[in-house]
Amino acid sequence: MLKTEAIAKHFGGLEVLSDVNLSVGAGEIVGLLGPNGSGKTTLLNILSGFLRPSGGRIHYGGRDIGGMAPEAIARLGIRRTFQLPRMPEKMSCAELLLTAVEQPAGARLLAWPGRARAEARDARKRAFEMLEHLELTRVAHQPASGISGGQQKLLALGAAILGGARLLLLDEPTAGVNPTLRLRLVETLQDIRRQGVTLVVVEHDMGFIGRLCDRCVVLDRGVLIADCKPEHLMENERVVEAYLGKRETRPKAPDALLRTAEA
Ligand SMILES: Nc1ncnc2c1ncn2[C@@H]1O[C@H](COP(=O)(O)OP(=O)(O)OP(=O)(O)O)[C@@H](O)[C@H]1O
Ligand SMILES: [Mg+2]
Repeated sequence: MLKTEAIAKHFGGLEVLSDVNLSVGAGEIVGLLGPNGSGKTTLLNILSGFLRPSGGRIHYGGRDIGGMAPEAIARLGIRRTFQLPRMPEKMSCAELLLTAVEQPAGARLLAWPGRARAEARDARKRAFEMLEHLELTRVAHQPASGISGGQQKLLALGAAILGGARLLLLDEPTAGVNPTLRLRLVETLQDIRRQGVTLVVVEHDMGFIGRLCDRCVVLDRGVLIADCKPEHLMENERVVEAYLGKRETRPKAPDALLRTAEA
């Protein structure tokens, strides 16, 4: 469904991505991992058209979408969420979700006013069910920009899900979300996949990745260093090194550190 070929990105002299070859099959849930600053968000920005790659190609559904504008990529069915959501000032949470629900074609609305009313009712039902699911009913009529950081992440995720995407790119969708709700979101995202949506999810929490993803890829300083099932991640010495440092320079275990501090 999505395939990148030798994607590169540099900002001035800083090489942030190099030779990234990533394939995502239709219906897969792929986790994108890597230490802070390894290039995960930059890669999502490139896939969704928010940044131009310095080199390489992106194929999506048989087309080369590299360098296309974000709106054009969104029209092809790719939707993304942001690591730091930006909420409109003047919209309530409910309004934001209502505008996100995939809209039927305008021409059909004009030709069938009765049907348009039924579709508006359906959109409202779906928006409020999503608010309930995300435990946001209490703030449904509050301005979206005024709710908490974790709630804004949930709202952005809800909007992305309701938007009718074929490929969803999620940048740390549950960062700052409480553990119970995170567990529920694993099920939600698996439901979405059963409805035919493909997902690429940036995430730091290995437990979440293990529950959610079929496969995960790991970036380290802009290079893809692993592509495997989540359960095999920690067998990969390059992955362990990327997160914990080289064996000989790894920090001591936390309990050893504590003992040192007490001594
Ligand atoms: N617009 C920019 N101009 C200059 N450098 C940038 C720009 N955007 C990103 N970078 C740099 O690219 C590197 C990768 O950043 P990126 O945000 O992709 O990392 P990340 O893997 O998403 O990290 P995190 O887990 O902390 O979100 C960082 O060193 C960052 O400073
Ligand atoms: Mg990031």
